[in-house]
Amino acid sequence: MAEVIDGKKVAGDVLGKVKALTADLGAKGITPGLAVVIVGEDPASQVYVASKSRTAKECGFHSVQHTLPAETGQDELLKLIAELNADPAIHGILVQLPLPPQIDAGTVIQAIAPEKDVDGFHFINVGKLGTGELATAFVPCTPAGSMLLIERVRGKDLSGLNAVVIGRSNIVGKPMANLLLAANCTVTVAHSRTRDLPALARTADILVAAVGRPEMVRGDWVKPGATVIDVGINRIPAPEKGEGKTRLVGDVAYAEAERAAGAITPVPGGVGPMTIAMLMANTVTSAFLATGLERPSF
Ligand code: GUN
Repeated sequence: MAEVIDGKKVAGDVLGKVKALTADLGAKGITPGLAVVIVGEDPASQVYVASKSRTAKECGFHSVQHTLPAETGQDELLKLIAELNADPAIHGILVQLPLPPQIDAGTVIQAIAPEKDVDGFHFINVGKLGTGELATAFVPCTPAGSMLLIERVRGKDLSGLNAVVIGRSNIVGKPMANLLLAANCTVTVAHSRTRDLPALARTADILVAAVGRPEMVRGDWVKPGATVIDVGINRIPAPEKGEGKTRLVGDVAYAEAERAAGAITPVPGGVGPMTIAMLMANTVTSAFLATGLERPSF
């Protein structure tokens, strides 16, 4: 039976540290400020954004949410970002993705000041992560949180370990691969065109699944003793709970995988809570840097 990696507990530890650091800044008359921008009415995005704004308030941040109508033009959104870039009370700017089709997400992301890019999506931050400049980069929240969970099991130095990341997105797969590489793993990034994925997955001491396909990773893909990090959050029908009911599952078939794994993240309660916690960590970090203070570590 695998160790179950408790993401809620680790996220709670991170948020506790964020609150303590926010109190330190408060003593200097500074409040970390986070602006969350959402365009349109996508229900899942609204839930995520509400949760980000609420957690920011719980951390003692100045939390502002800009909710723009679905038909908002790109120029209008760019104008808002320019205002937030210039606002000294705002240390972090997050534009929730996806954006409506009339807006080019790439243009919007690159308009965010890199020092306020708490999502870590700006080319400057992507480049810093890619070149190992972790001391000054903002790292995307989900891979940063996944890395903290891996560290809890394996420590900070992953020398000699094979890591396989399934998924090559800019938000999770690619930054995750770079973080594992920076921690001295031997890293392979797999994706939908990869040949014999089960055999490749079985080489992994650390297996990260970030594809968005419910329970794709089966138990016999998992090397005995591996650390399995399940980034997927998929809602599937659950007729056993009653008509029309659903449940959340990851990208890993948990019941099968936990028999082989050494440690595994559950869904929900694994990587999910870490994403918001790391957004708060990035925002308080930005406030420290803007104040000329040494960067805190998490
Ligand atoms: N949509 C899904 N995940 C994310 C994320 O990490 N950041 C933003 N801005 N939008 C998202």
